[in-house]
Amino acid sequence: MTDRDESDDAREGVAFTDIYVDDAIVDRVTETLRSTRYVKGAGVQRFERAFADLCGTDHAVGVNSGTAALLLSMQAAGVGPGDDVFVPGHTFFASASPVLHLGANPVFVDVDPRTYTMDPNDLAATVAASDSPKAVVPVHLYGHLADMDAILDVADEHDLTVVEDSCQAHFATRDGHTAGASGDAGAFSFYPSKNMTVGGDGGMLVTDDDDLAARARQLRDHGRDDDGVHQVVGLNYRMSEVAAAVGHEQLDRVRGWNAARATAAARYDELLAGVDGVQTPAVADGTQHVYHLYVVQVPAADRDPLREYLAERDIETGIHYETPVHHHPAVAEEVGDVHLPRTEALVDRIISLPMHPRITPEEVEMVCETIESYVAKHGGETDVADVTDRTPARTDGGREARR
Ligand SMILES: Cc1ncc(COP(=O)(O)O)c(C=O)c1O
Repeated sequence: MTDRDESDDAREGVAFTDIYVDDAIVDRVTETLRSTRYVKGAGVQRFERAFADLCGTDHAVGVNSGTAALLLSMQAAGVGPGDDVFVPGHTFFASASPVLHLGANPVFVDVDPRTYTMDPNDLAATVAASDSPKAVVPVHLYGHLADMDAILDVADEHDLTVVEDSCQAHFATRDGHTAGASGDAGAFSFYPSKNMTVGGDGGMLVTDDDDLAARARQLRDHGRDDDGVHQVVGLNYRMSEVAAAVGHEQLDRVRGWNAARATAAARYDELLAGVDGVQTPAVADGTQHVYHLYVVQVPAADRDPLREYLAERDIETGIHYETPVHHHPAVAEEVGDVHLPRTEALVDRIISLPMHPRITPEEVEMVCETIESYVAKHGGETDVADVTDRTPARTDGGREARR
């Protein structure tokens, strides 16, 4: 998202995303490079403090990816071999891969197909069938918080550690919860396409738990204590000073960018409201969605042809995600045959439309007009009920049947 030049204006289509950089960010990077202090400096600490303050948590621990933030949250909370960790099937692979990395069992839970987040009823049923429940990973997918009130109730009842995967939901809220701040720990990603970045890979772990924060700090730095003695086996997950400089500058802007995303989403909602067969994203009451992605559902038979139609007109789209996590070979060979009907139906219907803070009203209109023109020519049959009215996900009576 640099200042636009003529080649941008001449572009006829619509870009999926946009990366922001300005002089203030470049100056901070230059200053940091000239300081020659690249790791373990005061910049990371300042960024951590500012990030924790915005989340409303006591601690923030800067790391080198969202995946590392998830892994360290779980490891610091004591997740290990034999533990069951409940994860939604519809998410990015990294919500679940740290569980396998720690030798624990990912146990998959279906999602609410309207908000795309973990279904608390399916969670309750899945946990009840577990012999060794340990942790739950609600994922605030696309920027919409999972139903934290209901999930925290289940977690309290079964003494589960709650690690919020907030990698797509910087400063989103729901029912008084801010992403990452209500569980035992929250994990954020600063991958370049996220709502804010550090100019490369990076992540943040937030928590109110002093011990968990201290363990995470130790684990991110080879398990060392302040005297340089390796008390536990950690690895190197440290955030660099250059990354922190970019992140800190972006932190001042991210809430404005989130508001701009919400404005674009409202325009999409309005323009797509009357288009047959297109289901716009639902927003649960009491939710401030931050629209990392704007994902619509269309009839499965129309999904790929519609994407092609948009691509032919130079409109970029994505699918997040084409394959449920439990169907990826690396996971399936560990968990066996798992079936989540809602997740498995919706992955054939979803399209992520262009979304970023500087998308123009004209670009949103162009996307919507193109979708409308596709529907007028080819589509228009509403089969939304196929997914949203599907019987509750858990029909098999227990965890064993799902493995
Ligand atoms: C939902 C979700 N979880 C985890 C991650 C992992 O974050 P990272 O790519 O920074 O490791 C991402 C980002 O790609 C994500 O979108």
